[in-house]
Amino acid sequence: MAHKLEVIIKVDVFDSPEELPEAEKNVLTAAQQATQNAYAPYSGFLVGTALLLEDGSVHTGNNQENAAYPSGLCAERTALFGFRTNNPTTKIRMLAVTARPAHSTVYQAAWPCGSCRQVITEYETRQGSPIKIIMQADNGQVYCCNSASDLLPLQFSGQNLG
Ligand code: THU
Repeated sequence: MAHKLEVIIKVDVFDSPEELPEAEKNVLTAAQQATQNAYAPYSGFLVGTALLLEDGSVHTGNNQENAAYPSGLCAERTALFGFRTNNPTTKIRMLAVTARPAHSTVYQAAWPCGSCRQVITEYETRQGSPIKIIMQADNGQVYCCNSASDLLPLQFSGQNLG
């Protein structure tokens, strides 16, 4: 007889960026600034990501779209792949993501898509420590969780490959 395995995701909800600890607030601000260089002529949805590194510095990325739609890439992965290209070992402590329509300065809900969650968890395993995820939510709220793994239960990993 089958039974239910319950999987619960818990996130910390802040009512505004002002309520965030300083480091989280700064990395979210960097993500907001990174929306400026998003290339999103097809969706008009500008996404910005910022990585806070172990040395306190910040690396950003944004979505890069293409006329051949699937050739484009999300903000989170442009940031992560771009950073890891020349920095294979520096640990990433936090990743912030935010979005806004091209015609607006009001930031809105943006959580990492499934593919980005998969990529972030791979890098958590690789660096041997969690990456805190800071997510813009609607109405000025901000969601935080301590690890991308919290957002991806039953994740596929190298362990599955044996
Ligand atoms: N997008 C991201 O950059 N990150 C996500 O996690 C979700 C979606 C981008 C991809 C595309 O350029 C636009 O948002 C609309 O889907």
